Amino acid sequence: MGTLDALIPPPTMHHLPVLGGLAAFLLLFFLSYAGMLLVSTAASLLVPKGGDPWMGGALARLTGSTWVPPVVFGILPFLTLAFLMGQVFHGEVFPVARMLFLLLPAFLLAFGLLLAYQRGLDPRLGGAGAAVLLLSLAGLTSVLDLGFLPEHWGFVETPLPHLFSVSVAVHLAALLLLSVLATGGAVLYFYFRWSERKLEGEERSLIFLRNLGAGMALGGGLLLPLVLVWDLYTLPFQALSDRGFALAAAMVVLLMLSSLLAFTMLKNAHARFAACVFGSALVLFGLQAFRTVDLQAAANREHAILAAMESAALRAEETARREDLMAASIVVDVALGEQIFNERCTACHQFDRKVVGPPYNQVLPKYRDRLGDLEAFIRKPVKVDPAYPAMPALGLSLGEVKSVAKYLMEHGEAQR
Ligand code: HEC
Repeated sequence: MGTLDALIPPPTMHHLPVLGGLAAFLLLFFLSYAGMLLVSTAASLLVPKGGDPWMGGALARLTGSTWVPPVVFGILPFLTLAFLMGQVFHGEVFPVARMLFLLLPAFLLAFGLLLAYQRGLDPRLGGAGAAVLLLSLAGLTSVLDLGFLPEHWGFVETPLPHLFSVSVAVHLAALLLLSVLATGGAVLYFYFRWSERKLEGEERSLIFLRNLGAGMALGGGLLLPLVLVWDLYTLPFQALSDRGFALAAAMVVLLMLSSLLAFTMLKNAHARFAACVFGSALVLFGLQAFRTVDLQAAANREHAILAAMESAALRAEETARREDLMAASIVVDVALGEQIFNERCTACHQFDRKVVGPPYNQVLPKYRDRLGDLEAFIRKPVKVDPAYPAMPALGLSLGEVKSVAKYLMEHGEAQR
């Protein structure tokens, strides 16, 4: 597992801030999908006792019944997230990537069980899947929480530490309430507004389902602000930031608006604002995810600076290594130098007489201990002697320049 950490490169100074945004985006995908899967399964297991049998199926299949959603909204974002968070916390004692990879089998099991439930509607599969998913989400919440509790990192020994803390309970509650709100919005939107999936059925059952959707949206929307306020009180001091407060305030306003819409739909028996409610639920997921990442960043300022410095040092090392490689790969070859001299220089230069340029025997002695200067001149000629026109640049490669310079010096010496 140590190799896993070694596989993940450290972040660079420039893309560290981008990582946070990306991680929030992936969290939005993953958490909204997993949360709605959990709540819709729970609803389908609890509700149909009195209602029509189709209703349980409709609720169970709210997020789809093929393997595509779990892969696209579940597994892929999760894997990418593990990689990104591994980068953000690179070199820390807190092995976040390893913890997330340990959670992966649990999520796979949950998604598999729930897919089987969506297909066959066997309540035992649904119950087991929901339980595993709930536990996995609790585990994920605890890992995300640890991200902004640097003072705990030294004590992290088990893969799933501090599972039972107030902060994890509060954040799990927030996630679940948000999922209830989103599921309610999704029921209203998918089954009552979206023409492709609109439900047909007995009037009484449809009304029940619509009220259930609006009720979930309303309940989730009304309870969540309480949890958010509680959260602000329990957050560790160093994780507090102006932006964190602003984001929480924005969430509360949005929650009030969506609750108002849900209430109106419930009272007037329609689903006209379903898209608004569902949309705000997704935005809220995004804000919550961004807040989590923001909290981690606020709690980890020192680490971010250290990580950036480390990466800058690594880069400098890498650049030096490549320059050495490049220098080593340049072949200095006197025979090649002679060939270049014959092909490219003799039109203007001879050793013993003036052609267009000065005779080499006249100009070379001054370069005897300054081979580097000679190479520099051949590479990029500058005006030297007013008696001559300027020498044009010949576009030779570094290796060619070094070779011809070496040839000139050796040949010049030999002639004297
Ligand atoms: C098109 C003509 C032309 C070609 C081709 C040419 N040179 Fe020159 N070279 C000149 C001229 C003209 C000068 C004098 C420039 C001055 O004094 O400003 C000169 C000057 C020099 C000098 C003397 C610089 C000094 O510090 O006084 C060297 C060394 C030299 N050339 C090397 C070469 C080599 C090596 C090649 C072939 C790879 C080459 N030149 C090809 C025209 C040429």
